[in-house]
Amino acid sequence: MTNKLRYFIANWKMYGDLKSLKSIGTVINFVKSNKKKKFKLIYCPPYTIIHSFYNKIKKTHIKIGAQDCHQNNDNGAFTGSINAQMLKNLGVKFVIIGHSEKRKNGDNDTIINKKIKSALQNNLTVIFCIGETIQEKRKKLTKKILRSQIFKGLKNIKLNNRIIIAYEPIWSIGTGIIPKNFELIENVNFIKNLLVNKKSTKKVKVLYGGSVNTKNIDNLKKIHSLDGFLIGGASQNSKKLIDIVKKSFI
Ligand code: PGA
Repeated sequence: MTNKLRYFIANWKMYGDLKSLKSIGTVINFVKSNKKKKFKLIYCPPYTIIHSFYNKIKKTHIKIGAQDCHQNNDNGAFTGSINAQMLKNLGVKFVIIGHSEKRKNGDNDTIINKKIKSALQNNLTVIFCIGETIQEKRKKLTKKILRSQIFKGLKNIKLNNRIIIAYEPIWSIGTGIIPKNFELIENVNFIKNLLVNKKSTKKVKVLYGGSVNTKNIDNLKKIHSLDGFLIGGASQNSKKLIDIVKKSFI
């Protein structure tokens, strides 16, 4: 049991439509009846339902995030893209940047750095995702990769409380496999120390993401250095999401 404020980011990925919004009612009720508990719930639905989602939750403590934004701050001829300013105008407060599924599709450290800068300029809070592949883990390169992703992604950016790191080992995402507690503790501490030493004296929040579910949360919640969780698959089911949040406080 921990008394610290914890973040729960529901990443819906490319799932969900207007019908899915009906199921959110139970989550809204849960949040309303647990106002005194120290948690923040942020939904990151696909762009297509952000507006409707926002209307549904705007009078609650739930916040809306997006799953990505374009690196260009200004409007322009970028077919298919959405920038941070557009998101802000929709009521979005958070944005996931650097998710491995976006890195796989071409987002490199330079683009990620630009996206983070643009998001911050628009007063969005950034959920900055980092993590190693299974091959990198086997070669014991995890720390090297995390250091490189952090320093390149945050190049020329002053740390502030609108940057939250999500440590997501790529081999954990969608696989049902999570790191051992000692590995997670070591990597979370490594990230926190790195940021304290090199960038700022402010404490940066670090979340864990990758196959978080209603069973492994009993174990994950024991890691006190974690400031919350980024939840993919399980977050699309309201009952499971409520269960995960609830269990974190028992
Ligand atoms: P998962 O996804 O919980 O389905 O593993 C996490 C993520 O990709 O953010």
